[in-house]
Amino acid sequence: MTRALVVYESVFGNGRTIAHAIADGLSGALPVDVVAADGAPAELGPDVGLLVVGGPNHGFSMPRPATRQGAVDQHGAHVADTDRGLHEWLDAVRVPRAGIRAAAYDTRSDHPKLLVRMDHAARTEEKLLRGLGLTILAPAEHFSVTDVEGPLADGEEDRAREWGATLARALATAPVHH
Ligand SMILES: Cc1cc2nc3c(=O)[nH]c(=O)nc-3n(C[C@H](O)[C@H](O)[C@H](O)COP(=O)(O)O)c2cc1C
Repeated sequence: MTRALVVYESVFGNGRTIAHAIADGLSGALPVDVVAADGAPAELGPDVGLLVVGGPNHGFSMPRPATRQGAVDQHGAHVADTDRGLHEWLDAVRVPRAGIRAAAYDTRSDHPKLLVRMDHAARTEEKLLRGLGLTILAPAEHFSVTDVEGPLADGEEDRAREWGATLARALATAPVHH
């Protein structure tokens, strides 16, 4: 049976909560695995039909070593290895076959609202997904935190669960590519 894989990067845990809520929403329709990017497989399993990736906005884009170090220095964050995260995983992961669907999300501060329209980290995630030959299943989604370290804004976990269910429905009706 086709499985979904959710790969996330999360410095303070907000994006991890979102990843698990998305997985929860998907799990009514298909089996789902959730892994942090620094522990994600080097190659997608042959049964993975949907890859969902997400992480925080750091300096208007995806986290990179210097911004992870900034989170450690300025916020006392615990980051196991500042050189490894979602971008680095997407740069290296092997994709065994064509036709795999993908979707991206990011987390971001809920002010200024302008950021929501600028679409930074998720846009880069989608670019990397396309570069791997994956087909974007649905537009990227953005989830808000109320401050750098969180918590998530009210209702975001529920919205993530619903987005997971929406992705599962889209996957069920998407034409199959071989
Ligand atoms: C170094 C650094 C840079 C950040 N830059 C941005 C930014 O450009 N835009 C934004 O909306 N949030 C920014 N934030 C807030 C993060 O998006 C927020 O910490 C993250 O979404 C929380 O998710 P997490 O708990 O999964 O790490 C930044 C946070 C850090 C630590």
